[in-house]
Amino acid sequence: MNIEFQLRANLKCSGSLRGTVSPSEITEFVRACNAGLLKRGAPPGCGAKVVWWQVAGSEGEEIWLEIVSDRFVRAHDALFRLKKEFGKFLGRRRVGVRSVEIEEYEIAVEWDEAGEREAGEGEAEAGLRLRLKKLPFVKEIKQEAVAGEKRQLRLSLAVDEAGLEQRIPDRLLKLLEEKKEAASWKGKSEHWELLFESEKKQFYFEKDPTEEMARRGWIKHAAGRGQWIFGPQATRIFRALERVLLTEVCKPLGYEEMIFPKFVPWEVWKRSGHAKGIYPEAYYVCTPKTRDPEFWEEVADYYKVTGEVPREKIMQKIECVGGLCYAQCPPFWVFLQGKTLADECLPIKVFDRSGTSHRYESGGLHGIERLDEFHRVELVWLGTKEQVQEHAKELQERYRRVFSEVLDLEWREAWVTPWFLAQEGRAGLAASKEVGTADYEAVLPYSGKWLEFQNVSVNGDKYPKGFSVKLQSGAELWSGCSGVGLERWAAVLLAQKGLEKEKWSARFRAAAGLGGEGEREGELPEVFKFL
Ligand code: SER
Ligand code: ZN
Repeated sequence: MNIEFQLRANLKCSGSLRGTVSPSEITEFVRACNAGLLKRGAPPGCGAKVVWWQVAGSEGEEIWLEIVSDRFVRAHDALFRLKKEFGKFLGRRRVGVRSVEIEEYEIAVEWDEAGEREAGEGEAEAGLRLRLKKLPFVKEIKQEAVAGEKRQLRLSLAVDEAGLEQRIPDRLLKLLEEKKEAASWKGKSEHWELLFESEKKQFYFEKDPTEEMARRGWIKHAAGRGQWIFGPQATRIFRALERVLLTEVCKPLGYEEMIFPKFVPWEVWKRSGHAKGIYPEAYYVCTPKTRDPEFWEEVADYYKVTGEVPREKIMQKIECVGGLCYAQCPPFWVFLQGKTLADECLPIKVFDRSGTSHRYESGGLHGIERLDEFHRVELVWLGTKEQVQEHAKELQERYRRVFSEVLDLEWREAWVTPWFLAQEGRAGLAASKEVGTADYEAVLPYSGKWLEFQNVSVNGDKYPKGFSVKLQSGAELWSGCSGVGLERWAAVLLAQKGLEKEKWSARFRAAAGLGGEGEREGELPEVFKFL
């Protein structure tokens, strides 16, 4: 990628330069910098250059200059080198550089969208232009044709010295690369590859189980979006599914239970990568700016007088500190953050079932299959690369048995785009078979559609890296996770087998206390009667 930087800055000095240094001394200083300092580290003929300068300001205490450069010594790096050197140069004359003002900073990037054009001519280009309407720290974006087919993107930055120190221009260029990458993947379907398919099973139901459960009063839509209240019967089924998971998978594989937090502060999502793209799907959490009752009095009063909650007023009095549990495992990692694990405790296997997960789903809300609030058991395992991969296989083996033998489902397993890449908005990145996600899907007879009802993922060193967790031996620490959605398990089971317990397998009935093998006949609890 060909890049050109053009920077105009104003170095403000602590005293007048007039009479302190002669123009010819400055000319000589600049010439020397252009020849040496601003070329350092760049291939021959490349680097940065001061192309213009002038002493200015009412007292002659400013020096204005313009630097142009290529990608080898970026103009802002050149500016910092120059500032330091100029400080030394003036120091001998008892004048210092006080501050730097950035008057103008333009970056021109060669913007060849070959891949995009293939995808669909003008439309794709328009799409790309659309996506680049706005960039942080950029005042203006221009896309212009240069020689022939070539196009160039001209960014006019709004940054100050602190922004340059934070390397905003470098991060912007990286962002552009990522956007380009994402655009080239857009429209290409996500990865999906069949790994395993169960035998055909007998179905006993052809309705939508959510509708049927609602009709029978087992569940009711709650007050919130994509949220349900599960009555005693449905809850019994959920707990039975959970029991199957615990006795058939967690226990024999040596899992211990933990309780993971369900409020996730930004700090965690920065480390987990979710901060890169969770925004359209998060349930945001806000806290009061102060718990001073006086600060809140007008809100309470407004409600008392109008019967309406003044949401706009509230927005001004709160601060967004993070979100509700989304992927479940990220906040667990704070437990290990910055630590070194003893080799002897590996592989570690823990699970959490302590609360709800929340996602703002788009139009796709449907029954208990796609929800804004759902219940999931999350399994997390850690170890060396080999241990983590080995354990993923054991887990997959256990799940196969549960679905085929205990729940008697018709299902399949597929290798898909890893959930963490999808959630970071990097779904297009081709994943190796070493790291990635296996999804479990089951057919819903009432719609003929396949529903993903759980996953097993090997996440590589993503989390240990993000949360700075190390291993005693110095070997790479890896991890994996697996999310078991209870609503999804129930949706699949009930869609295939129906709501009559006689049609459920004896092992599942036993787990639900409904008279399985060698058990007394029990019934689903009937608690409420309505008039
Ligand atoms: N953390 C994984 C996910 O969010 C598995 O539950 O999909
Ligand atoms: Zn996870």
